[in-house]
Amino acid sequence: MLELMGDWKRSNYCGELRKEHVDSSVTLMGWIQSRRDHGGVIFVDLRDRDGLCQIVFNPGGNPEIHRTAEQLRDEWVIAVKGTVTSRTEETVNPNLKTGEVEVLAEQVRVLNTSKVIPFLIENEVNADELLRLKYRYLDLRRPPMRDNIIFRHKVTAAVRNYLNENGFLEIETPYFTKSTPEGARDFLVPSRLNKGQFYALPQSPQILKQTLMISGFDRYYQIVKCFRDEDLRADRQPEFTQIDMEMSFVSEDDVISIVEGMTKTVVRETKGIEITTPFLRMPYEEAMEKYGTDCPDTRFGLELKDISSIFKDSQFKVFSGALKKGGAIKALNAKNAAGKLTRKEIDDLTEYAVSLGAKGLAWIRVGEDGWNSPIVKFLTEEERKLLGEALSMEKGDIVFFGADSVETVNQVMSNVRLSLGKTLLLVDEEKLEFLWVVDFPLLKYNPQEKRYVAVHHPFTAPKDKDMENIESSPGNVASKSYDIVLNGVEIGGGSIRIHRKDIQQKVFEVIGIMDDEAREKFGFLLEALEFGAPPHGGIALGLDRILMLLSREESIRDVIAFPKTQKGSCPLTEAPSEVSPEQLLEAGIKSIDREPEN
Ligand code: AMO
Ligand code: AMP
Repeated sequence: MLELMGDWKRSNYCGELRKEHVDSSVTLMGWIQSRRDHGGVIFVDLRDRDGLCQIVFNPGGNPEIHRTAEQLRDEWVIAVKGTVTSRTEETVNPNLKTGEVEVLAEQVRVLNTSKVIPFLIENEVNADELLRLKYRYLDLRRPPMRDNIIFRHKVTAAVRNYLNENGFLEIETPYFTKSTPEGARDFLVPSRLNKGQFYALPQSPQILKQTLMISGFDRYYQIVKCFRDEDLRADRQPEFTQIDMEMSFVSEDDVISIVEGMTKTVVRETKGIEITTPFLRMPYEEAMEKYGTDCPDTRFGLELKDISSIFKDSQFKVFSGALKKGGAIKALNAKNAAGKLTRKEIDDLTEYAVSLGAKGLAWIRVGEDGWNSPIVKFLTEEERKLLGEALSMEKGDIVFFGADSVETVNQVMSNVRLSLGKTLLLVDEEKLEFLWVVDFPLLKYNPQEKRYVAVHHPFTAPKDKDMENIESSPGNVASKSYDIVLNGVEIGGGSIRIHRKDIQQKVFEVIGIMDDEAREKFGFLLEALEFGAPPHGGIALGLDRILMLLSREESIRDVIAFPKTQKGSCPLTEAPSEVSPEQLLEAGIKSIDREPEN
């Protein structure tokens, strides 16, 4: 029954046919979505990447064609020649782009058959994700997945257009390179020609793009794979794509304004949505204070309030104890939510807080007959008064508290806030809320390592005003860096760089990178800084995350054609896998199955 395509040429995509095609002869090729036998008349929905079209096989026509039509099964590949006709009014399908027409089949060729598929090629599928990834080529036939991949193409094309028009040059940088400074673990590649030596796959093109500025290319971009060996999550993959940019002779405002222009244009061209620029800029301190995170979701309020000062000498040991240890108390007031949250929901939220590291989640519900709460008996009259004022507590409100180290309180309360935002339906899912977080500290103290570490990477420039305090007060130096956040997800980050060797050396000294170490790690960049490096800065945007948010998906895996699982494996290709002893020998590598015992 199988036939060759022969000299048949496709005339149209299935999804393309409309009223104006009526009476034309067409040749379509595609997959069988479904076949229905209506007492002799056989209807086939034929699918290609553009959509579906109904093909009609009449019993009155050529008996041989009809016999073929009777045997067709889902996902077989066929070619059909026929004539486009109008559907009668009662058979028009308004849910289909091609629903006003159908094709009367005159000839058919079966180009391939298909085994029974493991899940249906439908919009919604209840197959396990592992099965979807194993049969990714089938999963990608499903319209939402197909659309995500096509959308990805449209976005990267629009990005390229915008940057090309704005004087950026697309320049490739190598994947076999040296360790780069983004702070995750490197993926290593053994060098056969230099036994015992390794390339590191780039965590980003950071050093090389700075080098390109020193070469004088002025404006660089690349849509580029980056590799980071870290624990994976819904918005993290071991290999992911950045829209990476670097510019010379620029300030923070210049980089920010290029990204805003690009975002506005790309969202308009690919989604038809007009977003307002400039985006709000929020200092890092304010983000941490009000939202407990450096990537706040500002689509709703529920801001955190630091109420530590009220409880310094409180009898309630949970609160005063946390403060004595140098911690903080933060609260949020869910206005009018008392009636909307069941006791079970409050208990679940407490359990969630504990799972994030909290010791509990105190709450006060303001009811008809006053405050109702497990903690209110511990509070003095004065504390209640100050609390009520600080949080504008009114009847119907419910207030939640976190008391712990500043870090834990922020970690817990920022997530409690997000969870409440969802439960109380405060989040407008249609909104695209872009936000810059600026004025990050340059360095932060790492108590485990007993030293300062770079908040971004060690090439980030300090603010001019703080330049002279780098050595005397490293913790209080602000940096020329910026993160861009969309709906509470960090979609990009960058900075103005240090372009002078003396300043770079000073920063290395403060973060305890010794001369030798600096030379070994970033030697060529340090040397290049001595050959007329221009002032420069840039940013990298996480393409996968942006696509996830614009496509309203929950995971970046749904916008990547061939993603890895949470365990970093690919069920389709079965990577990673063992290799032969010969390959190992050639690479100069000895494999051990277990962690070495120390
Ligand atoms: P940064 O490390 O902030 O900056 O990365 C930039 C953006 O890349 C995205 N991203 C990821 N996306 C998916 N999976 C991951 N594992 C992952 N890690 C990061 C995020 C992030 O905001 N060289 C600097 C940029 C610069 O300074 O110009 C850099 O790589 O959206
Ligand atoms: P306890 O005295 O431990 O029974 O706690 C009284 C209330 O305070 C309970 O609702 C706990 O969930 C809450 N709680 C306990 N520890 C903390 C904490 N560190 N931060 C916020 N709430 C807490």
